[in-house]
Amino acid sequence: MNDLTIVLLGVTGDLARRKLLPALYNLIVQKKCIDFVIVGAAIEQTNPSAILQAVKDGIGKIDEAAWKLLEDRFFYEQLNFTNESDFQRVTTRVQGLEKQFGLAGNRMVYLAAAAEFFCPITANLAASQLVTRKKVDEAPWQRIVYEKPFGHDLQSAHEINECIEDLFEEHQIYRIDHFLTKELVSNIALIRFTNCVFEPLWNNRYIDQVQIVINEKIAIEGRGDYYDKYGALSDVMQNHMLELLALIGMESPKKLSGEFVRDRRVQVLKDVQVIDGILGQYANYTKEKSVAKDSKTETFAAIMLRVDNPRWAGVPFYLKTGKCLEKKETVIHIKFKSVDCLLTHDCPVPSNWLTIEVSPEATFSLSLNAKKPGRNEQVVPVSMEFCHSCLFGSQTPESYEVVIEEVARGEKSISVRFDEIEQCWRIIDTVREKGFELFEYACDSKGPDALKQFEQKHGMRWRS
Ligand code: BG6
Repeated sequence: MNDLTIVLLGVTGDLARRKLLPALYNLIVQKKCIDFVIVGAAIEQTNPSAILQAVKDGIGKIDEAAWKLLEDRFFYEQLNFTNESDFQRVTTRVQGLEKQFGLAGNRMVYLAAAAEFFCPITANLAASQLVTRKKVDEAPWQRIVYEKPFGHDLQSAHEINECIEDLFEEHQIYRIDHFLTKELVSNIALIRFTNCVFEPLWNNRYIDQVQIVINEKIAIEGRGDYYDKYGALSDVMQNHMLELLALIGMESPKKLSGEFVRDRRVQVLKDVQVIDGILGQYANYTKEKSVAKDSKTETFAAIMLRVDNPRWAGVPFYLKTGKCLEKKETVIHIKFKSVDCLLTHDCPVPSNWLTIEVSPEATFSLSLNAKKPGRNEQVVPVSMEFCHSCLFGSQTPESYEVVIEEVARGEKSISVRFDEIEQCWRIIDTVREKGFELFEYACDSKGPDALKQFEQKHGMRWRS
């Protein structure tokens, strides 16, 4: 990252302000990013200091030297995503800055933009030669990063992909899902396949059900324009949640790296079938800025899936996500089957649960039954816990720092292959076709009341 030009398209948006620019600042603090320029571009008429001030307001204590370097190397260009001559102007500016700072022309163009602009932006990047087609290992490198969601359904994803593949080589294309870089997420496959205690139990003989939950306390935070078009199903379920399912469900790869893992992820996604679901919308969602008054967009979804293969036949996978809920929690719960109770008191004994908490804490715990002190055979659940943040705490990088670093290194395993995206859209398109009912729910609650009927119908109980 010591000879790098970053072009951030959509720099005035929420993603750049809350995640990308803070991540770049952190990389500068850590001296991982030393010789660089950042050119931000968006439609707004604004200036670099206004953009950086909004970022600074969201960062706690500032490292003054690092901040000064960011200020000195950050530039802004007004640009319309669909206007080729704007891209020509940005290219000329980028070339000028690269000359001024003695940079070789290694370029990362980050599309923090809605998927409907991916195709016109890609065409303009090619036409203006801000990015040119490169052979593998050809210097300087030039890469394009596409934020999720990649399209809004299977068909649109295909259209975007064709347009990109016509203009650039696959090794230049990064389809990002930042969840794949979260510490505990990248730990899932490692924990499964490097500990011999888990893999023999990882199937329908021993596992009763899997719950994957992304509860969020925040609402849509002024992102009405984007969110109302996508909803919870496309915003997080199509990507983050199905990638988690794929990591939990996949067969053992030959090696725990790149294409081997991706092959296994796509294989399990192909076997996913949609069984049931309910949708929700938080009260007063339609009063949010830029949301249609009669919007039927879901801000909550609870879906039951099955994975139709020998390993998982009969095991339900429950996925639940929502905005404006009582607390933030990203967690995977794996429930093991109950055992025959041999005790004279306290039957039946609780099932074991394996819990992988991705956030707010990064922990991994197994609940076991143990004897309560005393003469009676009373059982208490105890927890064996690995607390990632307690052990490694501040060493854990933010996911967007990892994304930027890995793209700069040319590491493709953080990018989602198009066949995975295709399968994820196939599943979400099916959920939409099934037309599950939409219920209203109060903010700061657990979700719609109908969640209880869903639990009763399937004889399950959400653990988060
Ligand atoms: C993003 C979604 O991809 O993930 C947001 O667009 C969501 O709506 C966010 O809030 C959650 O990610 P994290 O890393 O903040 O847990």
